[in-house]
Parts: sequence; C-alpha cells; structure tokens
Amino acid sequence: MVTTKMVLSLLFLMLNLQFLAHGQIDFSPESMDLDTGGLSRQSFPTHFIYGTATSAYQVEGAAHLDGRADSIWDTFVRQPGMEPDNATGEVGVDQYHRYIEDVDLMAKLNFDAYRFSISWSRIFPNGTGMVNWKGVAYYNRLIDYMLQKGITPFVNLNHYDIPQALQDRYNGFLSREIVKDFADYAEFCFQMYGDRVKNWFTFNEPRVVTVKGYDEGTYPPGRCSKPYGVDVTNKCLVGNSGTEPYIVAHNTILAHASAVQRYRKNYQKSQEGRIGIVLDFIWYEPLTRGLSDEYAAQRARDFHLGWFLHPMVYGEYPKTMQNVAKDRLPKFNEEEAKMVKGSLDLLGINQYTANYIQHRVVNDSMPPEYLNDMQVRFVYEKNGASIGQKAHSDWLYEVPWGLYKSIMYIKERYGNPTIVLTENGMDQPGNVTIPDGLKDTGRMNYYRSYIQQLKKTIDDGANVIGYFAWSLLDNFEWRLGYSSRFGITFVDFETLVRIPKMSAYWFQKMLQREQ
Ligand SMILES: *[C@@H]1O[C@H](CO)[C@@H](O)[C@H](O)[C@H]1NC(C)=O
Ligand SMILES: *[C@@H]1O[C@H](CO)[C@@H](O)[C@H](O)[C@H]1NC(C)=O
Ligand SMILES: *[C@@H]1O[C@H](CO)[C@@H](O)[C@H](O)[C@H]1NC(C)=O
Ligand SMILES: *[C@@H]1O[C@H](CO)[C@@H](O)[C@H](O)[C@H]1NC(C)=O
Repeated sequence: MVTTKMVLSLLFLMLNLQFLAHGQIDFSPESMDLDTGGLSRQSFPTHFIYGTATSAYQVEGAAHLDGRADSIWDTFVRQPGMEPDNATGEVGVDQYHRYIEDVDLMAKLNFDAYRFSISWSRIFPNGTGMVNWKGVAYYNRLIDYMLQKGITPFVNLNHYDIPQALQDRYNGFLSREIVKDFADYAEFCFQMYGDRVKNWFTFNEPRVVTVKGYDEGTYPPGRCSKPYGVDVTNKCLVGNSGTEPYIVAHNTILAHASAVQRYRKNYQKSQEGRIGIVLDFIWYEPLTRGLSDEYAAQRARDFHLGWFLHPMVYGEYPKTMQNVAKDRLPKFNEEEAKMVKGSLDLLGINQYTANYIQHRVVNDSMPPEYLNDMQVRFVYEKNGASIGQKAHSDWLYEVPWGLYKSIMYIKERYGNPTIVLTENGMDQPGNVTIPDGLKDTGRMNYYRSYIQQLKKTIDDGANVIGYFAWSLLDNFEWRLGYSSRFGITFVDFETLVRIPKMSAYWFQKMLQREQ
C-alpha cells in the first residue's frame, strides 16, 4: 500500500538529489569537520597503496548483456523471496556502463588503486571453452582507463560468482574438475590482462563461500544438512554439512595453488607481477582467561583462517582441525602439498570485526557439521558491554583493536607475509535519507580508528603494503540486497546517481599528496 508518507518521503528524496546534483545543499568538503586524527600519507611507508574495492556481481550489472551467462548468484537470487524486495544484481550499480565516472571519482578522491573482480561467466559463459570476446573487451576498457587516470588495478579472478554452467556440469567446487577449469580461466586472464595487471588474487573469501554455501546453505549453491533451517529460505534439501565444506575448501585451495603455479611458470618472469588470495578474518578473542576459552579461540582462528592459510604456509591443515574432523578432512598428497605450500606472494586480508569466543561442549549425539566441529559459541558482549558499536549488518561490530590483533597474529604465526588489507568498512541501512545518509560520521570514525590501528601494526613490524576500503559505492550486498549500504559514495538505486559521502571526502583529505 502506498501511503502519503511514502509519497512525501520519495518527493523529499528526489528534491534533495536535485539540489545535491546542482550543489545547492551545503555539503562541500570545506564545511565538514574531516578530522583525520593525525593520519596522512606521511603516516605510512612511501609506496603504501590506498584504494577502494568492489566485486563484479555487486556492481557491474549488465548481467545478461554482451554475452554474459549466469553465475551461481544470478540463479540463486532469482528464487522468489530469497532477497529483500527480490533484489538481484541484474542492474547492480551499472558499473559496466559507468566505469569512467567511477574511475574519475577514485582519482578525484586521491586513491592509488582499485580492487575489482572479473566475472568468470562474462569471459567464459559456459565456464570453459568458448571465449566471450565482448566480455574480455569490457575489462580491457576498464583497465586501460584506470591506468590512464593513474589507478593501479588489483584484480580478483573470482569473488563468489562461479559460472552456473560448472555448478550444473559437476557440482562446482565439490568436484576436482574445478581445479583445472579455474587454472585455465586464470591463465587466460594472465594472457589477456597480465601486461597491465601486476597484482592478482585468485579467490575472495573462500571460507565464506564454503561455510555459507555448504554448511549453512544460506549462499549459493545452498547446500547443507542441518535438521533445522538456518533461515526461512534454507530447507537443507541437499548436501552434507559434515563433509562437503571440507571437500569444497580442499578443491578451492588446489585450484588456487594450480593457478599460482601456472602464473609463476609461464607469466611471472615476463609480466613481473605478484599473486595471492584474499581471506577473511574475524578476530576471535577468548571470552574469559580460562584455558578452555583460550583453546576455543585458537580453534576458531584455525577453523576460520588457518584452514586456508596454514596449508599455504606450512603445507598441511592446522592440527586442531585434523584432530577434530579426522577422516572428513581431505589430505594433500606429497605433490599437492608442495604445490600449495608457499603459493602466496601477497596475502589479502578482509578484516571488519571481532567476536568473543566461548568453549561449547559438543557431544556425540550432535551431527558432525563444520560449525559443531569448531566447538565454540560466538559472543558479542562481556559483562554487559558490547564488544563494539554495531553497524547495520548483524555480524559487524566496530572493534578497531581486532584489526591490530588480526594482523599481528598473522605476522607472528605465519612468518610476517606481505599483507594487503583488501577490505575494511561498515554499513548503514539501505533506507537512509538524503542528506543524512551523506553525513556518515559513524563511517568516518570507523575508518579513522581502524586505519590508526593499521598504522600501529606497521610501526610494530607488520609487512602491510596496502589498504582498500569496502566499498567505493553502495552496491548489491549479497543476501541483504540493496538494504545495506557499505559505500563511501551514496548511490540512488533508482537513478544510479552517485554522490560522495563525508567519508569519501575524509579519504580525499587524508590522501592529499604533498605539493
Ligand atoms: C517477490 O516475488 C514473489 C514471487 O514473484 C512475490 O510473490 C513477492 O511479493 C515478491 N516480494 C516483493 C517484496 O516484491
Ligand atoms: C559447454 O561445455 C560442455 C562441456 O565441455 C559441452 O558439453 C557443451 O556442449 C558446452 N555448451 C556450449 C553451449 O558450448
Ligand atoms: C547432547 O547435547 C544436546 C544438545 O545440547 C542435548 O539435548 C543432549 O541431551 C545431549 N546428549 C547427551 C548424551 O549428553
Ligand atoms: C530503516 O530500516 C531500519 C531497519 O533496517 C528500521 O529500523 C528503520 O525504522 C527504517 N527507517 C525508515 C525511515 O524507514
């Protein structure tokens, strides 16, 4: 039902957008208190890289234009009721057509780099075989324009959206066939773009893909075997939460390592680039000083980050996982272990938040599931105090010290690898109004406090070489659709007009170059 109030607020929004577009609302950087908290380019090493990040399905749109075929996200969100307002990435924020404006904005805001992902099904609609040259041409246009504007590309080969064709053909990551098919796709991208792209990542957040896709069933392909649904859309019709997550992670690690091997063998010397993976890491802090909580927190870090990072540094899964999951955890044979170990020039870390961890007793009558294997309870407050201010997403609490602890943990435990902070940010509800939605002081404070902690890790010896804010633009936020805004730039989802928020101007000021 359309109420008068709705009509009025829509009118109000449209009027305000008009004013903003014509600069009639006082929203200029000069009028804002953009406190950088002492941060500037000089706070960081000389060649430190600042950028923003997005991913293909979240921003590109043009989902069925110029030969692109479905990814597993296209098909998943088309199920009625799956998304708030039945949202899809069909139009996204139309970066496919608006990349020039978006790259111009990055340059105007003084950023050095842009992390984006390539849509596999735009390049290979069938997953393998026939090349869609119109899709190839899009990324050439984007990369060329970025370089023209002095923006360095950081490219993710896959960000959640594997081709539906491969899901149909052999169940995607559940099959070993993904290893060769991904490496072939990666190699094709090195051939096409590697003359200009010098920073590659294979997968983005494989833990999220694995756990949400195969343990909880809340992300595509929606497989799980829990007796209770995790959410209304998740009936756990097919899958096995006790075995499939481990198989999927294993094949993903092998696919990553195989792509890295191809890059190193055939391209790295001539193209002089580097390659790695992007892993998400929530800092897990023991709830109490009791030994059982300390062990639980370590187990949680192993099941979350170590699952992927431990093999890539040490050639095997963490002992905590081997002890619990036993035969359900696949093993790397000698040759595979050799290929996986050391398969990182760069480690991308997405870091947003922290949880307290409490030991949870899991008895034998409970079904083997990835989450039960972890034997932890996630806790968000201690002695009545929240771990941090909650953002819009229910998992996201503002805990800057969690960033510090995450990076220092990786430095100590994994031999101080070269790290890029590939994502960091917070969201507001999708329904914010203009101009309030532009005055995102909460986001500005979040960025200031996290970047101060990041500086501290570098001062304390961590080898962090870059930072990417998530995100350049409000966009399609997976299962939240357009009801969550992570952008430093406001996007009107009707008109697709972009308006930088206060946090965007904060970055612009902080990143000023010396005259
Ligand atoms: C989503 O689509 C279904 C099926 O077409 C429809 O019944 C439902 O009302 C839609 N929901 C919204 C919020 O538009
Ligand atoms: C897609 O690939 C499969 C497996 O290689 C093949 O059988 C099929 O014919 C291909 N489809 C198209 C449209 O090329
Ligand atoms: C195992 O745990 C479940 C869930 O907490 C509980 O309902 C059940 O009684 C427990 N069984 C035994 C044998 O302890
Ligand atoms: C916006 O959405 C949030 C929940 O996401 C709700 O609490 C709030 O009331 C909404 N505000 C308006 C103005 O509709």
